[in-house]
Amino acid sequence: MRLFLDTANVEEIRDLAWLIDGVTTNPSLVAKEKRPFEKVIKEICDLVDGPVSAEVTAMDADGMVTQARPLAALHKNVVIKVPMTENGLKAVQALAADGIRTNVTLVFSANQALLAAKCGASFVSPFVGRVDDVGGGGMDLVAEILETLQNYAFGTEVIVASVRHPRHVLEAALLGAEIATVPYTVLKQMFRHPLTDVGIERFLKDWEGVPKSGR
Ligand code: E4P
Repeated sequence: MRLFLDTANVEEIRDLAWLIDGVTTNPSLVAKEKRPFEKVIKEICDLVDGPVSAEVTAMDADGMVTQARPLAALHKNVVIKVPMTENGLKAVQALAADGIRTNVTLVFSANQALLAAKCGASFVSPFVGRVDDVGGGGMDLVAEILETLQNYAFGTEVIVASVRHPRHVLEAALLGAEIATVPYTVLKQMFRHPLTDVGIERFLKDWEGVPKSGR
């Protein structure tokens, strides 16, 4: 399973660059950084050797493609994030024809994922946290998408997105999702367990009682 970091914060990415396989950004995450978009994307590409999603904000297909081309030219690892709309999928088709990879975002149904895959999307991003937020089953959605796409050879990978807690990542892994994109704080939580901390503390304390010399 590959883990992406869901952030536009370069410090967070620098800290976990040794572990992660890619990065996803979105307009809200970029806005938080108060820095020019292209600069941020370039810096991220220098830190991580894997797909880096950069989202277009145009709502018409031509506008999306026009925004996508210079973004894709920033670095070979840039993947164009496109919203799940009819125009978005037209843009996905056009970009795929040019060899530009896309990540179809804001996916909330298996039919949306199916259409995106048919149009040549490299990745689809179901938003599990937002589905859970409105009382739905985010992981049921992922299971349905995986089952649907596994019936065909689209070559589209599923990125489990809108991850809220470590359990989401584990459930994504249990389902066999190719990728989860994880916020920094959630990824940090995944390293920890209270019993690990207690265990280390006890070992270190007991170690103090080991004689430093003698027979
Ligand atoms: C995915 O690529 C998105 O950037 C992200 O996961 C959205 O998550 P949110 O629901 O926490 O905003």
